[in-house]
Amino acid sequence: MDRSEKFWDRMAERYSKRAISDVAAYERKLQVTREYLRPEMEVFEFGCGTGSIAIAHAPYVRHIQAIDVSSNMIEIARRKADAGKVGNVRFERSTLAEFRVPDQRFDAVLGLNVLHLLADRDEAIARVRAMLKPGGVFVTSTACLGDSLKFLQVIAPIGRFLGLIPLVKVFSSRELEHSLTAAGFEIVHQWQPAKYAAVFIVAKNAG
Ligand SMILES: C[S@@+](CC[C@H](N)C(=O)[O-])C[C@H]1O[C@@H](n2cnc3c(N)ncnc32)[C@H](O)[C@@H]1O
Repeated sequence: MDRSEKFWDRMAERYSKRAISDVAAYERKLQVTREYLRPEMEVFEFGCGTGSIAIAHAPYVRHIQAIDVSSNMIEIARRKADAGKVGNVRFERSTLAEFRVPDQRFDAVLGLNVLHLLADRDEAIARVRAMLKPGGVFVTSTACLGDSLKFLQVIAPIGRFLGLIPLVKVFSSRELEHSLTAAGFEIVHQWQPAKYAAVFIVAKNAG
């Protein structure tokens, strides 16, 4: 088990009970995402955490395959889906890199509050694109710490070494936009609810 997995396993119960910091922004992101969803769609979500977002979108699509590196997060997500009698979401413990892509590609991929937690965002974005049908959408919400909190680049590795924070990568919204377009995505929606808030992007696989 790697350090990130251990960290998120430890955090899972607390994460499931945390209050959403900006409810209006959270709801708007769900709403915008839904504009791109259709009842026949197959959706993939990575870094799904305790499953709230997959469960919220489940009534609007055919099926969601949701993964997370933390088995404790997945256990909570499964419990929530069972309690809500949500039958069209499959939760599985896996990293994005480990996940075996099915022959049939996805219509949409969700990666919310997770891209900045991965060791190599370009590799992750390339993988997401390979999973998507041409014209399929990638929905992300990403802390772009390089825009305003660049000093974290120095502090974050210390915090990680002490086990206080997970792996965190510092990059700007410009760098994220560039990663997406260089990988073959077209950004069709971009919104940052507030100065330090995560940047919400919908990007289309240009094919
Ligand atoms: C900040 S939480 C976000 C959870 C959820 N997407 C949300 O927005 O509430 C980040 C999640 O990403 C997961 N994660 C971190 N690295 C991952 C990886 N390499 N592959 C899959 N999941 C990962 C963590 O276990 C954690 O549940």
